[in-house]
Amino acid sequence: MKSFLIAGNWKMNMLREATRNLIDGINTGLEGLNLDNVQILICPTFTSLGLAQKLTNNSPLSLGAQNMHFEEKGAYTGEISPKMLIDSGCEYVILGHSERRQYFGEDNELLTKKIASAFVNNLIPVFCIGETLQERENNVTFKVLEYQLSLLSDFTTDELKTLVIAYEPIWAIGTGLTASEEQIYEVHSWIANYLQNKFGVTIKILYGGSLNEKNAKEILSTEFVSGGLIGGASLDAEKFLSIIQTAISIK
Ligand code: 13P
Repeated sequence: MKSFLIAGNWKMNMLREATRNLIDGINTGLEGLNLDNVQILICPTFTSLGLAQKLTNNSPLSLGAQNMHFEEKGAYTGEISPKMLIDSGCEYVILGHSERRQYFGEDNELLTKKIASAFVNNLIPVFCIGETLQERENNVTFKVLEYQLSLLSDFTTDELKTLVIAYEPIWAIGTGLTASEEQIYEVHSWIANYLQNKFGVTIKILYGGSLNEKNAKEILSTEFVSGGLIGGASLDAEKFLSIIQTAISIK
């Protein structure tokens, strides 16, 4: 049976009231569903985590953050540490999202420290990789992905076994453009082979980039796709639940 991780990256959206409505809506929709083959993760903003922790206490929803600092505490004004995430009920943390790479200059060196810190603190990193449109058109997609994945050689096999990869082609994020089934299969099978050959691990590889309730069946059914990292459609309980139900239906 295929098992899935369906993850919502809320990005910089949702005040507390909207957080409550969305989580209540998801929780209600999940009642009575058989989630044997589906894990669900939501990643709200930092300011909603405390509330989200309360609302997910007795629900199948796992909680994650969208970023963190690598240090556990100290004089880093404005930053949030892994210990603070654990304290707020997080099990996961998204690291290396293309928006953080693009707007906040996150690179391999910084991401190595963040992933190491996540492992030490028992947070599961959802490590994002992906190419720009220009890189795809210049036929350097696999070169880019190989470089982004190369930092994983700093970690042990046991550590890597807990990692989740999210392949998010940058040109498909928030654009309504989705990679085709062939493109997704080509990249996901390449990543799976790379991870197996280089590190001897088989781990979850999520797809992200305009994944929604309409294309979920085709994308999630693709070999080597073990879930989705969903932006826009995760902000709507009905759409997010529909994607979850699609995952449940794929055996
Ligand atoms: P969209 O689903 O809005 O394209 O966002 C994808 C994404 O970046 C998830 O991390």
